[in-house]
Amino acid sequence: MAKFDESMKITIDYNNMMDKFLGDKGFTDEKLASYADKAAAAYDYVAANRGRDDLFMGWTELPYNQDEIVADILETAKGVREKFENFVVLGIGGSALGPIMAFTALCHLHYNELPKEKRKGPKFYVEDNVDPVRMHDLLDVIDPAKTCFNVISKSGATSETMTQYLILLDLLTKAGVNIKDNVIFTTDACRGNLIKIDQQLGGDVKKYVLPDGVGGRFSEMCPVGLLPAAVLGIDIKKMLEGAAYMDEQCKEKDPAKNPALMSAVLQYAAMQDGKNIGVMMPYSDNLKFLADWYAQLWAESLGKNKTLTGEDCNVGQTPVKALGVTDQHSQVQLYTEGPFDKVITFISLGKYKYSMPIPHGCEDVPDVGFLGGHTMEELIQAENKATAYALMKQGRMNYTITLPELNEFTLGQLLFLLEMQTAYTGHMLNIDTFNQPGVENGKKATFALLGKKGYEAKKAELDSAPALDKKYII
Ligand code: PA5
Repeated sequence: MAKFDESMKITIDYNNMMDKFLGDKGFTDEKLASYADKAAAAYDYVAANRGRDDLFMGWTELPYNQDEIVADILETAKGVREKFENFVVLGIGGSALGPIMAFTALCHLHYNELPKEKRKGPKFYVEDNVDPVRMHDLLDVIDPAKTCFNVISKSGATSETMTQYLILLDLLTKAGVNIKDNVIFTTDACRGNLIKIDQQLGGDVKKYVLPDGVGGRFSEMCPVGLLPAAVLGIDIKKMLEGAAYMDEQCKEKDPAKNPALMSAVLQYAAMQDGKNIGVMMPYSDNLKFLADWYAQLWAESLGKNKTLTGEDCNVGQTPVKALGVTDQHSQVQLYTEGPFDKVITFISLGKYKYSMPIPHGCEDVPDVGFLGGHTMEELIQAENKATAYALMKQGRMNYTITLPELNEFTLGQLLFLLEMQTAYTGHMLNIDTFNQPGVENGKKATFALLGKKGYEAKKAELDSAPALDKKYII
């Protein structure tokens, strides 16, 4: 068994979910134990089907089966850093949220504004929308000829990403640049339009594979996330090592010894108890976009209307993104006194990268003077603890995942923990965790509205919808 740095182990404190702290608003040990069979079945399913591409479980093996790919990515990343001023990810959903999250988590918070010598890589942008203003404004700050575009799309049929591709193709062509020199495709191994496009370009565009058994929202630790991270100088081997360490901690069938399974049981039990909203509240600006990444993972995986056996269900838990301490001054009032329909997951740091002393001053203004002599790290940690305590006092379920510090190893652990939690929870809900039929329907309607061939029937369906009633437009 590999040797891991135990001092970097992340922990889960779920005291504030239990009756000892929440009284009749909390779970008893017996209540949690009543889900033991469901938890055991979820554990068995994940253990038995690890790595199976046909079940979209390939992501479980990513910490172990990418040695060659990682070596290749590191080589490519080095070349990108030497050659380009900017690195732009074109992708959406699972093909964008991971790169945004890792960039924010592990790089300087004002990375693009740092002088070149203080950055480990080129300036970095992830374009995950088709807002024309955003594209226009990006083009105001980058020179496409000096930019490497990583087009990430499993299908190569996602209108948003391919629209962006068409724009950059046009720009680069007009600038006399050979597109092959400035793009990297991350896509399916043999299917999908980026493969066709590559062939039309001569077949030698640099390509990375989004493996068959890895869905978009589980793809951060494959080339989707690893290439952008490596370009930024993030230690991707350490990230994968962290994931493997969490995998090791999830080997036990007993939820009390398996953090992902226990957190799945807690969330499942809470959902059964009417907690239909899951708030993720990191106390770290670096982890702000972790909540976005998790929102997709949780929402797209669990929000389903059919069970595995075909019955109607309508299950899921609405993810809400919050940021500590900022949202204490915005949302926490609701969490503390509003409906009992939420579970709050705090993400805390044992130690911040910097602590920032608070100087003494304004001694004769008691509301201000008491802060002097402390540090900002102490303040943010105190506010985190105080918020969890205040929620607990009001009988509000919350639990805390603590990272000893934020680095590649702990982030890898955290991502794998949340992916495993999602897989277990989906099985407990008896739904297909890995499909997204609801997203597909919207994509098809867009194709129809823009006149794509093959979607004539859908267009007719949309056209035959009842005319809008002016009465309802004010
Ligand atoms: O999680 C998912 O599967 C989705 O969010 C996809 O990643 C997203 O729709 C983009 O799809 P594609 O990679 O085919 O462009």
